[in-house]
Amino acid sequence: MSIAIYPGTFDPITFGHIDVASRASKAFDELIVVVMNNSLKMNSLFDTEERMELLEKTFKNSDNISIDSHSGLLVDYLKKKDIHVVVRGLRAVSDFEYEMQMAAANKALYPTLDTFFLMTDTQYSFISSTLVKEIAFHGENIDRWVPEHVRKSMAEKIEQIRKNV
Ligand code: COA
Repeated sequence: MSIAIYPGTFDPITFGHIDVASRASKAFDELIVVVMNNSLKMNSLFDTEERMELLEKTFKNSDNISIDSHSGLLVDYLKKKDIHVVVRGLRAVSDFEYEMQMAAANKALYPTLDTFFLMTDTQYSFISSTLVKEIAFHGENIDRWVPEHVRKSMAEKIEQIRKNV
């Protein structure tokens, strides 16, 4: 059985991520979407459990997509689970250098690992979670970039933040 993981911060998940995960789930028997606690991204809008809940809701009708989380190095998760394939999305040429570095470093740490790249649908090639959060903070409509349940949770969070300022 072929198993792959799709790791990311997913703060929050966007249609760009959903596009990559959905297409990858057709190429592998099982896809695990792993919420990573990225130590370089300190100020997340959603905590790990909330991000996982949003992902669970997003993929509730997908038979072969499951959700997990991990703190620390990606390769430690892969070794623990005996998984050898990572899926990553490429949005633009600007992603390439960082992705190549990460794929090479991960392979150096775990030689049986392969990274599979999928091109993100061009309509999502310019978005990022940060961009969507910024647009939402300023009150603009983000319907075309995130599912309704994500939009609602973001609106609640933003409301809470505004009350606490
Ligand atoms: N559509 C839309 N947006 C996308 C996208 C897509 N298909 N793919 C990525 N993005 C966005 C993400 O939302 C993210 O936005 P943000 O920076 O505003 O949060 C941005 O593009 C970068 O995405 P990505 O490169 O996937 O970063 P990430 O933080 O989501 O994931 C990890 C990076 C967590 C997978 C990586 O840092 C990691 O593995 N960390 C663990 C430590 C480790 O092992 N490091 C490697 C050592 S060699």
